[in-house]
Amino acid sequence: MVAMQAQIDGIKKSFISSLEQAQTDDQLEHLRIAFLGRQGSITLLMKEIKNLSVDEKRVWGPKLNQFKQEAESAFQEKKEALFIEQMQSAQQKEQFFDVTAYEPNQPRGSLHVYTRTVQRLEDIFISMGYNVIEGPEIETDYYNFEALNIPADHPARDHHDTFWINDNQLLRTHTSPVQARALETHGTPIAVFAPGRTFRHEATDASHDFMFMQGEVLYIDKHVSISNLLATAKTFLQAFFEKEDLTVRARPGYFPFVEPGIEIDASCPFCTEGCSICKKTGWIELLGSGLVHPNVLRCSGIDPETYSGFALGFGIERLAMIKYGINDIRLFHSSNLHFLDQF
Ligand code: DAH
Repeated sequence: MVAMQAQIDGIKKSFISSLEQAQTDDQLEHLRIAFLGRQGSITLLMKEIKNLSVDEKRVWGPKLNQFKQEAESAFQEKKEALFIEQMQSAQQKEQFFDVTAYEPNQPRGSLHVYTRTVQRLEDIFISMGYNVIEGPEIETDYYNFEALNIPADHPARDHHDTFWINDNQLLRTHTSPVQARALETHGTPIAVFAPGRTFRHEATDASHDFMFMQGEVLYIDKHVSISNLLATAKTFLQAFFEKEDLTVRARPGYFPFVEPGIEIDASCPFCTEGCSICKKTGWIELLGSGLVHPNVLRCSGIDPETYSGFALGFGIERLAMIKYGINDIRLFHSSNLHFLDQF
């Protein structure tokens, strides 16, 4: 039975060397078929057991079985090793990152100045008892203009000032449409703050952009007066600029959805006798506001004899520009890392 041992040795030798050489799944599969497949050399050798005498079977049966098992487990080991190798080289190629790897001085992300400013504003209004709400950026003519008492011939309705989507839909030009939406949904009394993106079809420069953010404030209840408006404006601006001695002044202004319409300026947070930020006037124009026009209340089914209230609106970038000394509104959505890194 020397011949049997020689066969085993021969097959073993070539099996081991093929196993060592196999580098790909394909090569490994060929090897499996050649040695362990139905017509594979190890399988065929096993089939020879049945031709042996009883005594020979007793000797070679266990030996052949052991050989086959060893071959199978060597094959399995190789298969696993190859898989691990492939994964490692794929990881290197695709630069999988290891979340556990520590690297000093890695660049850190930070909140965008938009987010930071909006969160601060939300905190301030929430602390005054307001709810934060949102309205859609794509608005209808009704909410953006009609419900706000804006007449058909008002210049803002012009195709040159507004991005119209079709005859009825547009990108909202201000956050004031949230007023009517909030009144319809929540009714009175109401105290809401609605920050959001707004759009205007106009040329850009350092202080104008085609897209910017506004904050809208609406407070309606019984017996709300201009004093409430001024006190709210002052409290909010003091908190935002972190200046307890900040004061406000009111000037008449025209906005179709309020009567009277009031523009509110804040005393310059940076100087007492005039600086470049307040253009040497000591005052900074910040808010549009007024007492909600009876037509706006009626439009949402609210009786202006019973309820009154104020609305105010402001540019969020403008507030942030003043607070952080940013000189170009277009930087906000520029993705400029030198700019963003500062916040
Ligand atoms: N929506 C106005 C604008 O975009 C700003 C404004 C003015 C909002 C007066 C108000 C307000 O709520 O009462 O220019």
